[in-house]
Formats: sequence, C-alpha cells, structure tokens
Amino acid sequence: MAEEQTEREDGGGVATAKDSLTVTDNRTGETYDVEISDGTVKAMDFRQIKVDEDDFGLMTYDPAFTNTASCRSSVCYIDGDAGILEYRGYPIEELCERSTYLEVAYLLIYGELPTQAQLDEWIFEITHHTFVHENIKKFVEGFRYDAHPMGMLLATVGALSTFYPDAKNIDDRLERHMAAVRLIAKVPTLAAFAYRHNLGLPYVYPDNDLSYPGNFLSMMFKMTEVKYEPDPRLTRALDVLWILHADHEQNCSTNAVRGVGSSQVDPYSAAAAGVAALYGPLHGGANEAVLRMLERIESVDNVPAFLDGVKNREERLMGFGHRVYKNYDPRARIIKQHVDEVFEVTGKNPKLDIATELEKHALEDDYFVERKLYPNVDFYSGLIYEALNLPPDMFTVMFAIPRTSGWIAQWLEMVTDEETKIARPRQIYTGARELSYVDIGAREQRTEKPVAETNLIDPAKH
Ligand code: ACO
Repeated sequence: MAEEQTEREDGGGVATAKDSLTVTDNRTGETYDVEISDGTVKAMDFRQIKVDEDDFGLMTYDPAFTNTASCRSSVCYIDGDAGILEYRGYPIEELCERSTYLEVAYLLIYGELPTQAQLDEWIFEITHHTFVHENIKKFVEGFRYDAHPMGMLLATVGALSTFYPDAKNIDDRLERHMAAVRLIAKVPTLAAFAYRHNLGLPYVYPDNDLSYPGNFLSMMFKMTEVKYEPDPRLTRALDVLWILHADHEQNCSTNAVRGVGSSQVDPYSAAAAGVAALYGPLHGGANEAVLRMLERIESVDNVPAFLDGVKNREERLMGFGHRVYKNYDPRARIIKQHVDEVFEVTGKNPKLDIATELEKHALEDDYFVERKLYPNVDFYSGLIYEALNLPPDMFTVMFAIPRTSGWIAQWLEMVTDEETKIARPRQIYTGARELSYVDIGAREQRTEKPVAETNLIDPAKH
C-alpha cells in the first residue's frame, strides 16, 4: 500500500500523515499504513499484511490484554499515573463525600446523576425487589455448612436466570432495566443468606424501612430484636466502601461479564461470570491476604524485619502496588479516612497500628518509592471488614455486592454498542497436525495421568 503523504501546513514540503502508523514487513519489503485513532491501531488492520495470497494475515498476540483495548466505554476513567478515578466523569472523592451507593449505581447505569424524582423512584424500585423467591432459600439450604459464600453467591446469581426467563430478551429495554434493578436489589440478600447459612442461623428477610447498607447489616446481624437499628456511622462507612468498589473499568471480572454477555446470554448468567472471576485470589481476594499478612507480622516491632523480607523477595507486601495505579490509589486514601469512624463504633482493630507503620516505612523506603508501590484499595478494607466481625471468606462477597452495579453498567453499554460482536479471540496453534488414528492395541503410553492417593471413595468428597 502506498504511503499516504500530506502537505505540511508550514510549507516545509511533504510529511507522513500524522494519524497513521507506517509498518514495513521485512519478510516481503512491503510497506503499509495503519490508521491511528484514539491512540490505538485496529488489530484487524494488520490482517492485510501477508507473505503471499494464501497467508491468513498477521495477527496480534496479547494473552492478558495488557496492551489491548477491548471496547469503547464511557463508564469509568482511570489515570493510573496521576491516581485519578472518575465514574462517568465525576471524581471518586466527590462521589464518596456527597453521594450514596444507590445514587452512584444509577449514575453508572444510566450515565448521569438522577433528579430527586428519579432517585426516589430508583430507591423505591431497588427496595421493593430485595426479596428472593422462597425456592432460592431452599437452594441455599442445600449447600454444605462450610460452603464458601462466594461459591454460594456464584450459584445463586446464576440461578436467578431461571426465575426470570424473560431476561433473555436483551433487546427489550424494560427487561434490561428490570434485570439491573433485580440484580442490585437481590445480591445483598443472597450474600447475607450465604453468611447466615455458614453460621447455621435463620435467614433474615429484607427490611424495607432501612437504607440499602442498613438493610444489609440487618440481614447479616439481626438476632432476637424486633427491629434491627444499624449504626449510622457503620452504614455510611459501608456505603462509601461500596461507592469505591462499584466499578473499575475493564478489570478481570468486568471483562468476564462482557465476554460471556457478548454471546447474548441473559444478564444473570453474565453477572455470575463476573462473580466467578472476582472469586479468584488475584482479583477479589487480596483484602483477605492483607489481613493474613498483618496477623503474621503480629506487632509493630516486627515491621522493619518484615519489610527487609519483602525487599529480599521472601515476602510480598500485600495491599501494595497495582497494575494501573503508579501513584497512591485514590480509593485507599478515602478508605483510610473512614477507618477511624468504624473503629469508633466497633473498637479499634489492633492491626491498624501495624498497617499504619508498614505504610509509613514503605513510603519512605527507596525500594517502594523507586517501584512506585503505594497502598491499594485492599490495604485498609480488610481491617474494616474484620472490625465489622466478618469472617475473611466474606471479604470478596463484600466486594461483589457493589461491583454488581459496575458489571451491569458495562453489560448495558456492551449490549447497546453497535460495534459489539461475540468475543472470540484467535490463538497461536502449538499442537500436532494431520495425525492418523491408531488402533487401541497398537498405542504406546506417552503421558502419565495423575493418580489419586487412594482409590477408596471418601464419602465426604462424593
Ligand atoms: N510487594 C513487593 N514488591 C512488589 C509488590 C509488592 N506488593 N508489588 C510489586 N512489587 C515489585 C515487583 O517485585 C517488581 O519489582 P522488580 O521490577 O524489581 O522485579 C516491581 O515492583 C513491579 O511489579 P510487577 O509485579 O511488575 O507489577 P504488576 O503490575 O505486574 O503487579 C500487583 C501488580 C499484582 C497488584 C502487585 O503489585 C502485587 O502483587 N501486589 C500485592 C497484591 C495486591 O495487593 N493485590 C491487589 C491489587 S488491587 C485489586 O485487585 C482490587
């Protein structure tokens, strides 16, 4: 393809068009121009680069999407170097100070802040969809007493699709809206049922008089009292934590929701994919790891020795560092401000002193400064969850509740985007080709199958 040239405005002769990339294929000597728009090139533009007519064409290889934009999105903006996070253009700091989680959920989903009437209607709708079908309760009862609450949440969110079969009509605007309302309303109920199931306690039905976080605390902690009265300092802290966790652009679980949703499956099944991805320790599980680390450090006196271990690569400072933020994670700064408020109610978590000391030392240490390692969102959130008396297994569930609104916002954006196609990556094939089938008697064993320690059937596992 001929190189596109334009006249320079300053009259200094011809120059290559600015918004393109010129690529020379050294296999053939051919030169190609590829358009640059929004700071990206289209991977499909490389398909034209071939060694001959039969060649499939050049592909790009990016197994972890580390440098590939998978969509256009206007939901969430992150500038990792500057430590900026915005939802629909609004800075996270302002939203945490002046908004509520449910208002933020509306903002993420519908793209703008609601009027008072819209907000009232939204809160009414969410509040009146918090109940789940009684069969869901029976379904939860079927889990073992020690089932992981994320596993239960994953199954029950997926099961919702069988209760709302019309949700598969994803072209229907009302159905999409109802799925958004139902998911945001019911996920806290499912989370609380899973928690109570682990404790062998009766499930607590939603209380429509309470706020969204207040109702969650009631479903979790109500015992014999006629009416549970949540402490406003705790509901506010929980609301802020949920605003902070509501969305974070194309992270692992959001990518799972979009990927699964691109098959045009119903939104409950797509959201279940998000829960599954969040379950993994590299994604939603880091806050639990921070807590375990603080437990091991035991006292403030052990902090310098622990950090020496980190620098000698014997340890990792959990809750520090981030793939995108190379500055203080703005969410960590906000959580830190609310830690004291929570401890006023619950009593101070002694691990806070260790965490504060760790942060102080790390931020003054060249190892962490040079690598731009700062506290991330998970450094302080586990301390709050522990102060609320939540077991570590529930920490990731506490993340899934607010992330539900982000998943739905991104799913809605995807299903209404004209550019959306089923997500279907290519591969570099590394296996054998064109083998001939060998009769079973003539085969040689070439691979070892893993063998269980015992052939006896363990009834606990079957
Ligand atoms: N402790 C010690 N050293 C670290 C840490 C850490 N927490 N994080 C990064 N480093 C070091 C690496 O060893 C590497 O050093 P080197 O170049 O001398 O080898 C350098 O900093 C760059 O780190 P990478 O691993 O390349 O950074 P990456 O972007 O791949 O990893 C991650 C980011 C996974 C978050 C990492 O910082 C980490 O493991 N942190 C601890 C776990 C954690 O807190 N995860 C939660 C993230 S927030 C969230 O998911 C909601």
